[in-house]
This record gives sequence, structure tokens and C-alpha cells, in this order.
Amino acid sequence: MLTWNRSPLVRRLRWVVPCLIAACVVSCPGRRGPQGNGPDAAAGEAAVATANPEATAAALAVLEAGGNAADAAVTAALVLAVVQPHSSGLGGGGFLVYRRAGSDRVETLDFRETAPAAIDAAALAAKGDPELLQDGGLAVAVPGEVAGLDEILRRFGSAPLARAIEPARRLAAGGYEIDARLAERLVARKSLLARFPATAAIFLDGGAPRPRGGRLVQRDLAHTMALLASDGPRAFYDGPIAAAMVEEVARQGGVLSRDDLRGYRPVWRAPVEGRYRGLRVVSMGPPSSGGVLLAQMLAVWERLGAAGAQGAPGTTEHLAALAEPLRHAFADRIAALGDPDFVDVPVAELTSPAHADRTAAAIRAALGFAAVPPTPAATAPLTGGDHTSHISVADAAGNLASMTLSINTSFGSGVTVPGFGIVLNDEMDDFSLGLASPNVYGLVGGAANSVEPGKRPLSSMTPTLVFDERGEPFAVLGSPGGPRIVSTVFQVLVALADRGLAARDALALPRLHHQAVPDRLRLESRGFSEETATALVKRGYTVAVEEPWSDAQVLVRRGSSWDAASDARGVGGAAKVRIRARILGSGPGTTAVEAAP
Ligand code: DON
Repeated sequence: MLTWNRSPLVRRLRWVVPCLIAACVVSCPGRRGPQGNGPDAAAGEAAVATANPEATAAALAVLEAGGNAADAAVTAALVLAVVQPHSSGLGGGGFLVYRRAGSDRVETLDFRETAPAAIDAAALAAKGDPELLQDGGLAVAVPGEVAGLDEILRRFGSAPLARAIEPARRLAAGGYEIDARLAERLVARKSLLARFPATAAIFLDGGAPRPRGGRLVQRDLAHTMALLASDGPRAFYDGPIAAAMVEEVARQGGVLSRDDLRGYRPVWRAPVEGRYRGLRVVSMGPPSSGGVLLAQMLAVWERLGAAGAQGAPGTTEHLAALAEPLRHAFADRIAALGDPDFVDVPVAELTSPAHADRTAAAIRAALGFAAVPPTPAATAPLTGGDHTSHISVADAAGNLASMTLSINTSFGSGVTVPGFGIVLNDEMDDFSLGLASPNVYGLVGGAANSVEPGKRPLSSMTPTLVFDERGEPFAVLGSPGGPRIVSTVFQVLVALADRGLAARDALALPRLHHQAVPDRLRLESRGFSEETATALVKRGYTVAVEEPWSDAQVLVRRGSSWDAASDARGVGGAAKVRIRARILGSGPGTTAVEAAP
């Protein structure tokens, strides 16, 4: 048995060991190890879903070479930084929800961006103009992704950042053939990209968006990745990248400082747990609203079901019943959620059975309408997906990684660090400037999510793990979509759990969304008919029909096998593979791997 642990000698050996394991993976039959393996280890199956086939392929290659779910997820994240520069990357942040094989414990890492120390919160609140926080230097919060990914590898990984970053570096240097989604984003954001010379130089060609099928070569980003491989995160937070970043953000009107970067730390947070029909649902807690809202929605939906108040599937009564838990959960978000290092967030109360009982009773009292059968809409190819990106990974040992990454809106602030090719986030827009100042997603909030120096803006990211009654993995999922992330994860999970749908079919269902403010029931345009919308209007809803949204990535356990799917609204890919190396599980700081003889 080979054991990879934290000692310096073994750390060095980790450069060699994966190659030995990889050889065994392809040539040796597995055998049962002496330690107690869970059923998932026995299955020897690994699965990945990401929003881009290159990222999925890179993660699979890591798994096949003996890496674990953390190695694969981090590798995929770094590839996404290259192939989806509009969605996530080194200039952004994210959240990880991770379960080590053989353990019931789920650990969650917050590598969310933070407001710079010199941000003038009073001036922003007085102006109440969210656009100030959407483009340009003031929109940029201290990026957390580099520190976060490094921390993930240190805690769970079996190889260092230098190894995980290599596939991404190669892609950045060699070029990526611009896919349909990236091409569409380049066109949509052309005027933002054109405002910043370092950004225009990468993504525009003579002022025009680089076309689909063209090659996007990112030499500066490749250089940055080489620097991170040789010097580690320090190059980013306290080295040449930091210096260039601070200078460029200042030139573009922002206040990021060298001290902000030096002081950045990812934070291990308590996960938020919910229950749904015997399933244990574990997701991200504050400063993401995702876990709390998801737990609330599920608990209320379950109660509506128990009271016979979900309406028959296929009726508008059912759609209304589905929308109401969303509306109520978002109302709580507006009132109470923010960065737990700055405000007391009543997580226990909001996720308590008593709170769900009260909400479900209030909804039932208001749902006295007649059921109207909706007419199915014409089927058309789905488009949409979004900026921000989710990665779901399960390795053959039973390690599970659910990670969502973001630079917020498409191409974030639009500002790129000259010479380093890093697109910086506009995550400052996730703060609230008051109830009368909705952000880019129409979200409002109160004091709990007001701008403060060093504070993390409230997120909707909902990376989630789900376990069945026996504690075995049931699902790994998450999505982009701004506030629609939570409602997407909720609806996909309900479809998987209630209807036993295949991952692809659960993803194909049309989605609805309600976020309390504005008081509007949003329906995806491809999936709900005009008659359905009209029937919901008759029931008292203000209905908005919108382009399809989100780009969820799902793994669901069916029998002894993973069913993996990537949302057809995006361009991603899902895959699974049988891994023959015996990864026997892990203890703190240790991953034990047995190569088959
Ligand atoms: O953290 C959040 O909630 C947002 N920054 C996520 C943005 C997002 O999902 C963009 N996709 N539409």
C-alpha cells in the first residue's frame, strides 16, 4: 500500500507515485483492500460533470492517473479559468463542499472575495447606484480562487498546485477553439471588453469579438499559471501579480491594496444541512445563502406534499406550490443573510422544522385556487446556461467534491491584470445597497448584506452533496444562474428524489423562479406555454417569461452506478469511468492508495 501524507519526503514522492498508480490503473485488475471500503469504493466508478468538455476531460485524466476528487475538481477549475474566462477564474472566488471517503463529515471551504479595506461604504450607500459596483475597478473584490484551490489541495489533494495547474497552462499557451457559448458571450460583452485595453487585447481582434471556432491563445495567463506553479499563491497575493493587479485596479477607479491581497484567507465554514424525504442534504452556509435557502425550500416543499398541497404534477397549482417555498425563502434572505463574520445569521432558526411548519402553513392558507392544466410548449433546442461555473466530481474511493466558482457577471468587472491575463471579478455587486437599489440580478437586501471593508458579499452559490438514509452518496450537484442557482438546485434535486428521473431528464425539465423581490414569477421560455403563463397570471402572479437559465452539473447514484449529466442549456460534458486502482479512503491529511499488484 502506498500512503500519501503530509511529510516532506512523501510530499516529494507524490510527484512520482501518480505515474506508478496510473500504470496500474490501465493494466491491473482491482482487488479488495484490507480496510473497510464503502459500497462506492467497491464499485470503482468515478464520475465528473462540468460546464466544459475540456474541464471534464482534464478531471477524468486526473482520476484515471490515481488522483482523487479534490485533485480532479481543482484541475477542472483551473481549466475552466482558461476555457470559460467569462465565467470564473483566478480573478474570482467560490465555494467547495467536500466529503472524504469513508466519513460522514462534510467540510466546506469559503474562498469568496472580500471587500477592499479602503472601500467607502458610506459614499456607496449614499449614492445607492449599484452600477458603480458592476464594471471597472470599484467592482473588484479581493480574489479568493487561487488561495482557495491551493487550500483544497493542501487539505484533501494528493498533488500540489504545480501539478494541478499544468493542463490549464498548456491550454492557455496552446489556445482554445472558441465554443458557441464563449463566442456568444464575447459578442454580448463587446462594449465592456473594449473599455479596458488589457482585456480588449485578449478577447477582441481589431475591435471585433473573436469568432466562434477561432483560437483563443492566452499567453499572459499561461505565464501566470507557470508562475503559480513555481512560486505558489504568494506570487498572486504578495508578488508581481499582486503589484500589477493593484496598479490596474487603481487605474480603473478601484481601491484594492497590497495589504488586501496579503491578508486574504479562505475560511473553513460549518456546512448547512437540510433533510428531504429521508435524504441528508449538505450545502454551503453563509456567506452563501445557498445552503440555507435550499434547506428551507426542501423542508417546506416536503410539508406541502405531506399535507396534499403540492397540486397534481402537470397543473398550474403544482407550479404555484413550487414557486411559493422559493418566494418565502428569498424573503428571509433579504431580511437576515450576510457574512457571518460581520452579522449574526440565524441559520439554525431559518432551517428549523418549526420555521418550515410556519411557512408551509402560510402557503397552504394562500393556495386556494383551482387547478388548471398547463399546455406543453413546443420543444426547441435549449440555449442559455450562464457565467459562473459548477463542478461535480465523485472518485472511485467515495470522495465527493461539489464546487461552484464565479467572477460574477460575464467577464466580471471587465478589468484584466496587464501582463498576467487575469480577468477580475465584479463580486462587489453581490452586496446590497438597500431595498431600493436592486443589483444586476434584481436582488435587494438590508443591513446584513451592506458593504463593509473586509466583508464578503452574500452569494447564491449552492454546491451540494446529498446522502441517502444509509449515509451513502445520492447526488453531487450545483449550478450557475445568480439567484436562480438555488431554485435550479432545488428543482433538479426534487425531480431526482421525487420522480427518480435520470440526471439528464431532471435537467431537461423547465424551471421557474421566484425571489420575493421583485414580486415576479419567472418561467423559462422553452418549456412553459403561453396558456400556462396566462393561467398563472389568472391566479394572481405577475409572470415574466425569460430565456432559459442556469447550467447545472449533476451526478446521481442509481443502484451501484453514477448517472452523470451536464445541463443541455450549456456546452458542458459529463462522463464516468471505472477506476481500477484501489483508493482506500482517507483520514485527516492522508489519502491511502493501494495500487493493484
Ligand atoms: O455569488 C453569486 O451569487 C453570484 N456572483 C453568482 C453569479 C452567477 O451565478 C452568474 N450567473 N448567472
